Amino acid sequence: MGLEILFATTNEHKIREAEAILKNFGIMIKPIATEKIEIQHSSLEEIAKFAAIQAYVKVGKPVAVEDSGLFIEKLNGFPGPYSNYVYKTIGLRGILKLLEDYKDLGSRKAVFVAVVAYALSEANVMIFKGVTEGYISFNIRGSGGFGYDPIFIPYNSTKTFAEMSIEEKNLYSHRGKAFRALGEWLIKNINLFKEIKEKAYKGF
Ligand code: IMP
Repeated sequence: MGLEILFATTNEHKIREAEAILKNFGIMIKPIATEKIEIQHSSLEEIAKFAAIQAYVKVGKPVAVEDSGLFIEKLNGFPGPYSNYVYKTIGLRGILKLLEDYKDLGSRKAVFVAVVAYALSEANVMIFKGVTEGYISFNIRGSGGFGYDPIFIPYNSTKTFAEMSIEEKNLYSHRGKAFRALGEWLIKNINLFKEIKEKAYKGF
């Protein structure tokens, strides 16, 4: 039987993207729909780590959570750790408005960051980070994906994430990189992982 890991998220898109990556490592994802407990912090690592420990306490087994953010250069890294709140409030149009004075693509640089925190216990959390550089487009483009996908163009592409298939987005994306790093680590540490899992199931 192949490996299976728990992924605590209610975001269907994140599940599909993570599944598409981890299946290449022979790893299955079992999503668990716990609401992520998101602390306010300037560091995505700290947010993801805290949420992973909370999820571990809830399910009592090793579990992954992920936290992402979009950092726009000319806005001094805004919205960064507040990306979710900003998306829900001013949205894509609000971001485009904030950048309306920046008329060439080179002045619209942005970085997408994903941090996957994998809690093996309350005290032992592995962190995997993926970073993707790109630009904020001039218009909302594409109907795929979610969140800021219709306004983010990664370097070496002319398409926004929302104009790509899941597989193509994964080649470029912050989440693709973070989950590939998790997959590589799981494969390298497969024995350690199995031992921890057995202990958790036995209720240690
Ligand atoms: P969170 O990781 O779910 O907290 O995401 C923070 C914000 O960034 C949310 O508004 C998401 O919609 C957005 N976001 C996270 N990952 C992506 C992505 O891969 N593409 C576009 N938007 C994303």
